[in-house]
Amino acid sequence: PPATPQYRPAYHFTPAAHWMNDPNGMVYYQGTYHLFFQYYPGGMTWGPMHWGHATSPDMLSWKEQPVALAPDSLGYIFSGSAVVDKNNTAGFGKDALVAIFTHHDPKGEKAGTNTFQNQSLAYSLDAGKTWMKYDRNPVLKNPGIKDFRDPKVSWNEATRKWVMTLATLDRITFYSSPNLKDWTKESEFGQKLGAHGGVWECPDLFPLTLNGKTHWVLLVNLNPGGPNGGSATQYFVGQFDGHTFTPLNEKTKWADYGPDEYAGVTWANTGNRRLFLGWMSNWEYANQVPTSPWRSAMTIPRELGLRQEGGELYLTSQPAAELETLATKATTLQNVAVKTPVDLTTRLKATGDRHKLTLKTAQLSSFELVLGNAAGEELVLGYDQAAKQYFIDRSKAGQVGFSPKFAGRATAPRLSAAAGTELTLYLDAASVELFADQGLTAMTEIFFATKPLTTIKLRATRGITFQTISNTPLAPKAMG
Ligand code: FRU
Repeated sequence: PPATPQYRPAYHFTPAAHWMNDPNGMVYYQGTYHLFFQYYPGGMTWGPMHWGHATSPDMLSWKEQPVALAPDSLGYIFSGSAVVDKNNTAGFGKDALVAIFTHHDPKGEKAGTNTFQNQSLAYSLDAGKTWMKYDRNPVLKNPGIKDFRDPKVSWNEATRKWVMTLATLDRITFYSSPNLKDWTKESEFGQKLGAHGGVWECPDLFPLTLNGKTHWVLLVNLNPGGPNGGSATQYFVGQFDGHTFTPLNEKTKWADYGPDEYAGVTWANTGNRRLFLGWMSNWEYANQVPTSPWRSAMTIPRELGLRQEGGELYLTSQPAAELETLATKATTLQNVAVKTPVDLTTRLKATGDRHKLTLKTAQLSSFELVLGNAAGEELVLGYDQAAKQYFIDRSKAGQVGFSPKFAGRATAPRLSAAAGTELTLYLDAASVELFADQGLTAMTEIFFATKPLTTIKLRATRGITFQTISNTPLAPKAMG
């Protein structure tokens, strides 16, 4: 297929060429953010999985590195995590980087066994440049569960052991280890809790503090069964004592309601910051999206927090502060009252399709923000007061015919009871990420307009007043 540079994002990671899915092994090490990813260097659709690799000083400008891990006699290299082994518990070396991943054996899968996914180790002694596989892989053998994968490992201070959070079909299984090599099963969680429209994949477990109290967040990616169809990231808030996860309640919650954030997990070794990034696609159509010579991008990095709202504890997602470094001169309009449709393109000095838009209102009610082009294509997003929902509608935003699952209108509940809100949108040629109510609702969506969406219009038949509307072109720093 012909190349589509017009869809290449500028501040989201994409591989130069070929297929990518989940982020893997995200670890901050000696001033560098490492991003590994599910990668098939042999084509533009999913295939025998490798770990691709990219590095960045700020999670925005990425330099692609050589492939870190390639398939071997034990199978493909599926998703997993990486840690800094500060105390040399594994004996690979002090401060070794250790990757814990799933070996997926395609021969065993074909033969109809249910033990073809096992957990293995690899390590790097040169800050992630080169990787050695452990010579006694796998370190955690499959007990007979077909879906047994995506280990996320972290150090647990209470037990002074490593904890592995593993996706095991319809639940999470926790394991512990003193040395990353010998693993003991601790407990299971979730068989009867949360969303189960598909298989559980790519979990994460971490503490977050709110008002001096520590809570634990368990992320569980799910495919299919997301709130707008296909893949999505749900989460639970509760307590973890090093052995067992106990949820606060049984409510199903979503880290991102849009159709295009999946397999999202957080960086290791970032101190008090909890930084999240997901794959910006959906298994419903990821293999068909009209980009070339690469397929798929990652989301922007997000900083996670907790927030109490209506007696519930919610995870919040906000664009990481680093995004501010991309901002050029903002154009801000004050007191914009919308009743009849208004075209703000000129007043907002909107010319490109890589920008940040913020809309602030003291009284939120129904409105539609329409991003359009001369071809009559429209990406419509906004708020529906009657349904108390944010929405993004890409059905008229350009190419949709590559998959029957793609066109449509995605919705997300408004969780805040406040009268006003501030909405932030990050646009980068072929994607929009919406953050509302200080991160209580996040929505990610990709689209493929045939010409850049550079016009900005507002509609609100019942009227709404924005205290400010601001447009900031984003100027990414050069890659590498
Ligand atoms: C999630 C996933 C993981 C698996 C990987 C394979 O998108 O299915 O569960 O490890 O992708 O590429």
